[in-house]
Amino acid sequence: MKGILLAGGSGTRLYPLTLGVSKQLMPVYDKPMIYYPLSVLMLAGIRDILIITTPEQQQNFKNLLHDGSQFGIKLSYMVQEKPEGIAQAFILGDSFLQNEPVALVLGDNLFFGNDLINLISQARKRLELTGGGEIFSYRVRAPERYGVVEQDEDGTVISIEEKPKKPKSSNAVVGLYFYDSTVVQYTKQLKPSQRGELEITDLNQLYLENGMLRVSNMGRGYAWLDTGTHQDLHDAGSFVRSIQERQGLQIACPEEIAFEAGWIDQQLLLKQAESFKGNLYGEYLFGLLSK
Ligand code: G1P
Repeated sequence: MKGILLAGGSGTRLYPLTLGVSKQLMPVYDKPMIYYPLSVLMLAGIRDILIITTPEQQQNFKNLLHDGSQFGIKLSYMVQEKPEGIAQAFILGDSFLQNEPVALVLGDNLFFGNDLINLISQARKRLELTGGGEIFSYRVRAPERYGVVEQDEDGTVISIEEKPKKPKSSNAVVGLYFYDSTVVQYTKQLKPSQRGELEITDLNQLYLENGMLRVSNMGRGYAWLDTGTHQDLHDAGSFVRSIQERQGLQIACPEEIAFEAGWIDQQLLLKQAESFKGNLYGEYLFGLLSK
């Protein structure tokens, strides 16, 4: 399975913050935002990842993440010329995907939860066994800001709507999606929406019509945060800060995930730690070596 991390868009709602720097490079407390979704793909065991950015910002992402070898993964880069929709990622990524199933994560989504690894590993396994699409829902106070999924009592999906004025449920579709290799073919059938984008919700609708869409709920024990507004960004930073301060454990430390998975060895971790010498992140990495 391959991964795509979508980090395009102009982030207008965060202006002036994002006039010079991509939204997905903004700090969420002590790390660039993109570390959080990247970690989710890594936790799903995905090591071959395409990062899609705006043309102007691609170099900044490369300066930050390089070829991924420091995290034991392989990163490739591609640009999305204009913000023409989340689903466009699959058309852009066609040659990268080479007919493999894919996990797509949005570069501004942050996930946290004790059972997250299980939830996403199970979705990945189901998908690899039976194909189709796997998406996740999360209860929110303002569902009209998101894709909204309506389910019957057995959890079967009845409808999915993008930013409905009158949401049929409180369950938003989060920015993490797993699809089989028909995703490119399906995406090519999509027409741009009124806002001129290839909508991920329309893609999910196609999977739904074909009886191939499953939704898992991220329940009370999870945090799903996005970073669309200044307040959201601040909240996400505060959340990360409180948990990290309390536990002394990092949320979304790619080196730690790679080291625990055996993707990088002690020597490489030491090299990373030394490059952050004198700050708390570096200390944390040194701590992993003496565990
Ligand atoms: C997008 C999707 C929406 C989803 C959301 C998750 O919204 O279109 O279905 O719920 O991401 O973050 P957008 O970021 O385009 O407003």
